[in-house]
Amino acid sequence: MEIVTQDGWLEVITGCMFSGKTEELVRRLRRAVIARKKTVAIKPTIDTRYDLMAVVSHSGFSFNAIPIGDPKTILSISKDAEVVGIDESQFFTIDLIPVIQELLQEKKRVIVAGLDLDFRGEPFGIMPNLLALADEAMKLHAICSVCGNIATKTQRLIDGKPARYDDPTILVGGLESYEARCNLHHEVPGKTLTLFKE
Ligand code: TMP
Ligand code: MG
Repeated sequence: MEIVTQDGWLEVITGCMFSGKTEELVRRLRRAVIARKKTVAIKPTIDTRYDLMAVVSHSGFSFNAIPIGDPKTILSISKDAEVVGIDESQFFTIDLIPVIQELLQEKKRVIVAGLDLDFRGEPFGIMPNLLALADEAMKLHAICSVCGNIATKTQRLIDGKPARYDDPTILVGGLESYEARCNLHHEVPGKTLTLFKE
């Protein structure tokens, strides 16, 4: 689904790892280029996988991108752009929110992609805020690596074993450390249902 009728429009593409978020982002950015929109893609400097200067999906889809540390620099980079794509948005600080609001005020189309949940199955960083602000949101699914059912969670594996609840949130990686899992097969040793971090 891709309905874009207004200026100043925020689209959020989310879901677990291996669900095709970056692929969907790249698809939308390529279509914007075909429509002759000035288009720019941004990613956080922390994401060093595959290519420093491109957003790259696990399946190999890619689009040239500018690596950014401080979200405020997005404003100058996007000055002339009509469409701004931001990948791995879960890694940005809360400073990204006012930046996006300014881009929207400038009537730009902003498309962000990022993980809804961390490996614990808990909301990841600023993603809940972005999802609440979205004019349109798409939640993608993957396939559970254990049973083949629909996967909505990301399993972190350290030496083949499920990572514990109190392990650090950020661990950049791909298939060597992560798998998509369904709710039944998502394992987080040390997690209790009453615990929910602010
Ligand atoms: P992807 O959504 O494009 O597959 O990339 C997600 C990135 O986020 C990848 O580098 C692994 C990282 N990540 C964490 O740092 N912590 C987590 O809890 C999860 C699930 C992923
Ligand atoms: Mg991705």
